[in-house]
Amino acid sequence: MDTIESTISKSGSASYLVPLQQFIFKFLVKSLIGADPSSSKEISESGYIMLDRWLALQILPTVHIGKEVIGRGEAEFGLNQKECIHNLLFILGFNAFGGFSVFLPSLVSALVSDKTGLQEKIRKEVREKGGSTLSFDSVKEMPLVLSVVYETLRLNPPVPLQYGRARKNFQLSSHDSVFDIKKGELLCGFQTLVMRDPKIFEEPESFKADRFMNEKGSELLSYLYWSNGPQTGSPTASNKQCAAKDYVVLTAALFVAYAFRRYDSITGDSSSITAVEKAK
Ligand code: HEM
Repeated sequence: MDTIESTISKSGSASYLVPLQQFIFKFLVKSLIGADPSSSKEISESGYIMLDRWLALQILPTVHIGKEVIGRGEAEFGLNQKECIHNLLFILGFNAFGGFSVFLPSLVSALVSDKTGLQEKIRKEVREKGGSTLSFDSVKEMPLVLSVVYETLRLNPPVPLQYGRARKNFQLSSHDSVFDIKKGELLCGFQTLVMRDPKIFEEPESFKADRFMNEKGSELLSYLYWSNGPQTGSPTASNKQCAAKDYVVLTAALFVAYAFRRYDSITGDSSSITAVEKAK
């Protein structure tokens, strides 16, 4: 209770799993074994973690740890269990966690640094639309939120460089030139430049929250390339487009919608939130 109390006064709340485990471990070692864990620094600090690990291995065969995805990898994609686990870890850690770790801070930064009353407009939209429970589907009814997400991806593509080796000879065209590309040549695309093309995007260097709204705005989606392909395209086994291209957008939209249902306003700068005003 001392630990919990001091954490509450320091951080406003305390999670209780660890203090409870520390307490019950000490109590049981004393009462069951007749030994005092504090006589060994190692046991008193991490004895309960040692028991957690030991226990986990004992009960692993009986505990559900969400192996359905691994089963699908084996049954539908012909992978063995080890390959499935490696692929899942790579997608989880690199593609998904890595991608969002770069993207979400730039999204928050765009929201808190706006000076045009954007938060007020978003607040209105997310409270009027999308029903009582937010979901991947309900945020599709929030055009401003989606446009803000697209505009952030346009100005700050989280993975700006793409490489690919030509599979055949072909001609690569830009607005005013044609380049002969030979099979085997290494190509590099720089999204940051592509998505600031003044021939496509009006005032390409400015953040325009509603840029992708309405019919004219949605035509720009075929020039939004953050996923290594146009937002109007689809990932296939041969094009290397982000497999989660739609879920990335919807997840970010959910995050924005949730934040502005919870808060009336969020104040901050490019790295910190300095104040939040709870929804009244
Ligand atoms: C903000 C988050 C994300 C960003 C910015 C992002 C961006 C990208 C980009 C740029 C590529 C192409 C890489 C290249 O070939 O050079 C890519 C590929 C890929 N992404 Fe994402 N991604 C994100 C989240 C996710 C998530 C959540 C998943 C899966 C759950 C995912 C799965 C994949 C996979 C499997 C590929 C490889 C596709 C292939 O080579 O055929 N990504 N992603």
